[in-house]
Amino acid sequence: AKDPVRVLVTGAAGQIGYALVPMIARGVMLGPDQPVILHMLDIPPAAEALNGVKMELVDAAFPLLKGVVATTDVFEACTGVNIAVMVGGFPRKEGMERKDVMSKNVSIYKSQASALEKHAAANCKVLVVANPANTNALILKEFAPSIPEKNITCLTRLDHNRALGQISERLNVHVSDVKNVIIWGNHSSTQYPDVNHAKIVTPSGEKPVRELVANDEWLNGEFITTVQQRGAAIIKARKLSSALSAASAACDHIRDWVLGTPEGTWVSMGVYSDGSYNVPAGLIYSFPVTCRNGEWTIVQGLQIDEFSRKKLDLTAEELSEEKSLAYSCLN
Ligand code: NAI
Repeated sequence: AKDPVRVLVTGAAGQIGYALVPMIARGVMLGPDQPVILHMLDIPPAAEALNGVKMELVDAAFPLLKGVVATTDVFEACTGVNIAVMVGGFPRKEGMERKDVMSKNVSIYKSQASALEKHAAANCKVLVVANPANTNALILKEFAPSIPEKNITCLTRLDHNRALGQISERLNVHVSDVKNVIIWGNHSSTQYPDVNHAKIVTPSGEKPVRELVANDEWLNGEFITTVQQRGAAIIKARKLSSALSAASAACDHIRDWVLGTPEGTWVSMGVYSDGSYNVPAGLIYSFPVTCRNGEWTIVQGLQIDEFSRKKLDLTAEELSEEKSLAYSCLN
């Protein structure tokens, strides 16, 4: 039998946490033959609710779940973890300035970075979900210098999956037959969902999405805004933000990173830019990546047309501004 993998979920008493921990305990994230030990962190006001989640995990009698640590102590939570899914953060409340929210999250991510650096297992893989996800991941990277930068990522897989879903509905094909969309940039409304390289798997081979949709106006307009605004549409409908789809996307992100992407398929991940596609180095930016042997690689050589170039640059500019704002909060 395999040794259990320790998976940290921060903000585990929250909405996404409640959807995510049973998925992890069922093997959705790491596979049906991989035992797990869950480490769940939340803050003291949520301690009782966190304990309730722990009770439910016991009651669910998951065969793969070999242990549960539920704590409000960040050092205990981080000790020995192989995977860290950072869902906890400070939400923007009505009337709050952007800078105040940023400042709260910078201080959370700064201290959790040091805890991970000191106590996590060597080669721990980190996925930041909490918003502003890209910038929180960047702060975590800056304050955990001994964790390789390749191990620190943020979630844009939800946006990627939303783009697959929109194409699948439009063409009336199954979502698993749509592949290679790309989310570029920030997990925010400036993200660029790009279908220029996307394909549909058909019985007579792969066909470009652009050819099958044959409606550039929709692809360059409503498709993009629908994906960009989907989070807001869910809030409007549910009066709560996306949780099950976010949890599912977090599992997809880690599963593909650890177990590899299928041959001929890429996914979107927020990763530390090396300057690929003229995206400024030193931002956490969403790129198309393939994964093998537990490492991601940015897909190279894709043609970027003028329409796309503007959109890649716009979301990069927003991330540079967020980065400056975050740094200004450090002083
Ligand atoms: P929630 O408010 O239900 O849960 C957040 C939890 O984090 C709460 O239980 C809270 O007590 C906890 N928390 C706050 N500060 C903490 C700290 N310092 N350490 C540990 N835990 C802490 O929120 P929800 O809906 O679960 O969303 C969580 C985050 O994920 C939000 O920032 C949200 O904006 C973000 N999000 C990101 C998505 C993405 O695609 N990247 C998609 C959906 C949500």
